[in-house]
Amino acid sequence: MKIIMLGAPGAGKGTQAKVIAEKFGIPSISTGDIFRANIKNGTELGMEAKKYMDQGLLVPDELTVKILLDRVAKEDCKDGYVLDGFPRNIPQAQVLDKALEEQNEKLDFAIDVEVPDEDIIRRMSGRRACAGCGATYHVEHIPPKKEGICDTCGQELVLRDDDKPETVKNRLDVYHKQTQPLIDFYEAKGILKTVDGTMDMKEVSAAIAAILQ
Ligand code: AP5
Ligand code: MG
Repeated sequence: MKIIMLGAPGAGKGTQAKVIAEKFGIPSISTGDIFRANIKNGTELGMEAKKYMDQGLLVPDELTVKILLDRVAKEDCKDGYVLDGFPRNIPQAQVLDKALEEQNEKLDFAIDVEVPDEDIIRRMSGRRACAGCGATYHVEHIPPKKEGICDTCGQELVLRDDDKPETVKNRLDVYHKQTQPLIDFYEAKGILKTVDGTMDMKEVSAAIAAILQ
């Protein structure tokens, strides 16, 4: 099963990608998480990506595409994967299509998690992410058992650098201009499914599970 998650920043792509991945025993792959891990480790790639991420801009395709193609070529992806945050523009989608075609494969579903911009801004300020394993929490909706500490790995939870309100606004602008056109792109391929991302997290998961059955 090969699935991509579409949706605005903060729509819940990462949250739901992890639920799907667990259910189907396939990896969930977030280009954002890969970049953040590189920033944390001080790699050259991380330093380069940070310049764009801190402004809410897309990291250039030359950097992003190779990382993603290398990642999906790994052994653990042979039964499929959930992509969270890739593709993010039409050229990235075309590269992915071409790579899949070369292997006689194709995407099964593109799931668009729909959340209006007003709700997004509110959500982002409450998000906390684990600096260790990338797990995501929300101070009101999905609190950790112990404040500020990850349930899964015990490391500290932090507010992401790009979750400041002015950066969130830029990310939303970039989303509407560059990423939203992918909705028509996958609709035309007949694999687009839309879920209402304003529902409770469990209800969103149930809606996605019904699609994937
Ligand atoms: P990335 O890490 O992908 O960020 P994003 O798309 O902006 O999305 P987020 O991770 O912010 O949100 P999400 O939809 O995963 O929501 P979440 O589940 O956390 O990318 C970051 C940056 O990296 C980009 O800006 C770009 O610079 C770069 N980048 C990454 N990929 C790239 C690419 N392919 N090309 C170029 N550049 C790239 O949920 C949000 C919050 O809401 C959480 O607190 C969560 O707990 C809570 N929540 C989730 N669901 C619900 C619910 N149903 N109800 C209430 N609260 C909920
Ligand atoms: Mg995410």
